[in-house]
Amino acid sequence: MQRMVIEGGYPLRGQVAVSGAKNAALPLMVAALLTDGPCELANVPALGDIRTIGGLLQQLGVRVEDLGGGKVRVNAARLSGYEAPYELVKTMRASVLVLGPLVARCGQARVSLPGGCAIGARPIDQHLAGLQALGAEIKLEHGYIHAWARRLRGADIRLRLPTVTGTENLMMAAALAAGRTRITPAAREPEVVCLAEVLNRMGARIRGAGSETIEIEGVAHLSPFQHTVIPDRIEAGTFAVAAAITAGEVTITHCRPDHLGAVIRKLRQAGVEVEAGPTTLAVRCKGPLRPVRVTTAPYPGFPTDMQAQLTVLMTQAEGISVIRETIFENRLMHVAELRRMGAHIAVRGQVATVYGGTPLSGAEVMATDLRASACLILAGLAAQGRTVVSRVYHLDRGYEAIEEKLALLGARIWRERA
Ligand code: EPU
Repeated sequence: MQRMVIEGGYPLRGQVAVSGAKNAALPLMVAALLTDGPCELANVPALGDIRTIGGLLQQLGVRVEDLGGGKVRVNAARLSGYEAPYELVKTMRASVLVLGPLVARCGQARVSLPGGCAIGARPIDQHLAGLQALGAEIKLEHGYIHAWARRLRGADIRLRLPTVTGTENLMMAAALAAGRTRITPAAREPEVVCLAEVLNRMGARIRGAGSETIEIEGVAHLSPFQHTVIPDRIEAGTFAVAAAITAGEVTITHCRPDHLGAVIRKLRQAGVEVEAGPTTLAVRCKGPLRPVRVTTAPYPGFPTDMQAQLTVLMTQAEGISVIRETIFENRLMHVAELRRMGAHIAVRGQVATVYGGTPLSGAEVMATDLRASACLILAGLAAQGRTVVSRVYHLDRGYEAIEEKLALLGARIWRERA
């Protein structure tokens, strides 16, 4: 078990490059299941979750090659299985993304039903209802979803809420279905748009990705693709908060500020100077931080994946901030750890009231999920003294070389074996 040690109190300065987006790379690797030739991805981050999906694809008979330099080749020409076992799904819920593509390509799939997760119950009922609407038969037995269909057929799918991986799963399934599918309200996240672009490059006929309604005209065959994964907007946002919370000055490169509208607006409201270029964000924080009110929402709203990071930033603002989490029912677990570092935060239901202006002091804290771990690292950067964050494996699922990147910006941070 590894842990991260941080000596806080040093302002970050310099340039940092953002890696490819985990949540875009995962569905793109899975999309290779829809065709029988070599698909190549560039800008794939070296992360735990990417290795997990690679391992799952390999178990299905797919050839996954790490070509180095962030390039990965995925070839499902010899696809021989249709099962995603419990051992993998329990370590990464996004494994459920194989469900739609496997039914579309092989006529069936057996995927372990994901259990609850640290941040919420996270059911997948909308993935299943959508697949049923596309004509799949679905049976749940022994903890596994068994779905099958001779050929999926297009349908009008009305989702209860705009689920991100649900939209991706159904878009991939519908790409090879007979006839027209309509998904509404579809998730509008940049990762969904990125997947739609790739599917279209493969020969799919998808319109409306990025809007509330996605229309898919099914085709009989899809071809291999090459694509560069979009930059990770949450990693970029996390570095922006790192710059702000240490009163530093950082230029974030290789990013897409146009994917970060809600985050940039909130940071500016809080008094952080943010200058956005086409692929860069210059972030500077000189004056005092102002408190903000923020409510998480599906894209283009403020992302739930940035909520923990904004919460820690607000502990340093002069006044009371109100942070409302609306996407996941248990995503304020970092609060208890932040309190151990001196933060004054009250929680009622899904609302955190942050009484800012309390200095943070280094402590031993424990990460509970990916974004909560990032928030604890940020707290450690701002705190006086030494912070030790345990359960670093959460962080390694979603942040590529984070301690190296932060150290290059002047942070005193290193990894230790516990
Ligand atoms: N939901 C349902 N039924 C469903 C699907 C979702 O009730 O069938 C609910 C969920 O329980 C949640 C809400 O809908 O309350 C939104 O969940 P969504 O399905 O959109 O989340 P996801 O697709 O499982 C992706 C990201 C998450 C990110 C969320 C929200 C990937 C691989 N994961 O999850 O990323 O928080 O969208 O933006 O794309 C992370 O990277 O740390 C992370 C958790």
